Amino acid sequence: MIEPANSGAARISIVGIGTVSLIQMSREAEAALRAADELYVLHAQSLVLDYLREHFDPKAVDLSTAYAEDKARRETYHEVAGIVIAAATAGRHVAYVTSGHPLVLVTPSQLIMQAAKERSIPVEIVPGISSLDTVWADLGFDPGPEGAMMFEATTLLLRRYPLIPTVPLFLWQVNSVETSLYSTHKNRPERFSRLQQYLEQFYPADHVTRLVHSASFPFTRPEIADIPIGELGVLSEVATSQHILYIPPVERQRVADRELAAAVSSVAHLRTLIDME
Ligand SMILES: C[S@@+](CC[C@H](N)C(=O)[O-])C[C@H]1O[C@@H](n2cnc3c(N)ncnc32)[C@H](O)[C@@H]1O
Repeated sequence: MIEPANSGAARISIVGIGTVSLIQMSREAEAALRAADELYVLHAQSLVLDYLREHFDPKAVDLSTAYAEDKARRETYHEVAGIVIAAATAGRHVAYVTSGHPLVLVTPSQLIMQAAKERSIPVEIVPGISSLDTVWADLGFDPGPEGAMMFEATTLLLRRYPLIPTVPLFLWQVNSVETSLYSTHKNRPERFSRLQQYLEQFYPADHVTRLVHSASFPFTRPEIADIPIGELGVLSEVATSQHILYIPPVERQRVADRELAAAVSSVAHLRTLIDME
């Protein structure tokens, strides 16, 4: 049974505080945290929790304790969302605080939004700087000229999305590929065989990927490791839960529409596209 929110004060702010610890927290995020009655925090860094307790809410709740070895991540996400929804349903303005962008691969945010909609609890989303943003900064990457594709690594293998080797590709969560269960144990090289085989259907084995870890503290540097597709077993040594695997294009996509290619720099063509009056 869906519990209706029992007070007009019920409200949820889903807040991303950015990738680099606390220094990417926007003014908008700060204002949302200040406005909230209670904070619920899912963040890997204890210093973030300490800071939020000191500056915003001394009772800020640490949600990271919901994770456990071998536990289904989905179960954890439902638990986390349930806690946030229960607090809001009691008539409070609660903020769910997470790293990066709060809607980029954050299942609890989706569950919270869905449950809040069912209970007519208003939700605001406060975007944060995602690790994709920081990875693009670390690589000096611009998605304009050649586009960009991205997939969550396990989803790529499950659905066998066709890849386009002329389009830059970013893979999330390579470290936890092939399972929906949470684990902190070291990976075996074989864990990455299926991913390697799938990529080899589209790319040569000697094509070099870049494993990127963006700095998650202001005093650390980004780390980038170059790994040929044929040697992805190396990921067992270097990939962590804070890496994105970038697969650069093998070559630039050729222009297919020569007529349009000539027209894009033509004033006469521009005149056909705009109203001059
Ligand atoms: C559950 S998702 C959450 C992403 C987060 N909401 C965001 O916007 O960055 C976690 C994934 O983000 C990526 N990630 C997180 N921190 C990173 C970092 N410092 N550098 C590179 N990738 C990172 C990894 O692919 C990791 O598996």
